[in-house]
Amino acid sequence: MTRQDIIAALWHGRDPFADPPEALRPLDLQGWRSIHPYLEEAVTGLRPSVVVEIGTWKGASALYLARTMAERGVAGTVVAVDTWLGAVDHWADEGLFAELATENGFPSLYRTFLANVLREGMADRIVPLPLDSVNAAELMRLRGVTADVIHLDAGHEEASVAADLRAWWPVLRPGGLLIADDYDSLGGRFPGVMRGVNAFCAEIGLEGPWSLRGKCRFVKPATG
Ligand SMILES: C[S@@+](CC[C@H](N)C(=O)[O-])C[C@H]1O[C@@H](n2cnc3c(N)ncnc32)[C@H](O)[C@@H]1O
Repeated sequence: MTRQDIIAALWHGRDPFADPPEALRPLDLQGWRSIHPYLEEAVTGLRPSVVVEIGTWKGASALYLARTMAERGVAGTVVAVDTWLGAVDHWADEGLFAELATENGFPSLYRTFLANVLREGMADRIVPLPLDSVNAAELMRLRGVTADVIHLDAGHEEASVAADLRAWWPVLRPGGLLIADDYDSLGGRFPGVMRGVNAFCAEIGLEGPWSLRGKCRFVKPATG
């Protein structure tokens, strides 16, 4: 599936990056663990045509995925799913709340993401989908957009992780790879991620997850 096919399916053919604003914000690639061997290996190992990232923030990890695909000659697209409204961890912390750059009482984080994608020259590799995770998964399922790779980095509460995994599993193709961020430890900052991922893998009898430096990954069986 090409970027044009994805735009036809999700955006009724309207390129979300057409008519960019003249004044772009400065490049600001602040993120968390946005460069990681699991992301690089997903690109080189699977040579995906559709990568879905759930939780994009300013775009650092989506851009890393897109840039890696470009550098490795992989003709793939990153669908970047985010409300661009932040989550409880951003709203509860004064410093992170400031990063949401609220204007008239509403976050303007999307404008930072947009500027970053345009400044990095990756608009032809990324399709934003500004919906909440569960609605985005349902839209993609309805419109027949299947993911080869999913990078889950949205809500970090156990209930959000459980809901996200349940919603996105049908969107991942058999043999596809799911990578989840903030899989640290039960004593770490986001114990809900480990609990949610482990419970999901156990429930459907999956091997794994395997983890490295705060991310984990597991494969959807090719059959069954
Ligand atoms: C930790 S940040 C993502 C960081 C990014 N992957 C990076 O490496 O820079 C989490 C993002 O998930 C988004 N988010 C949280 N819950 C969400 C949900 N249920 N649906 C859509 N986006 C969500 C937030 O708005 C935030 O931008």
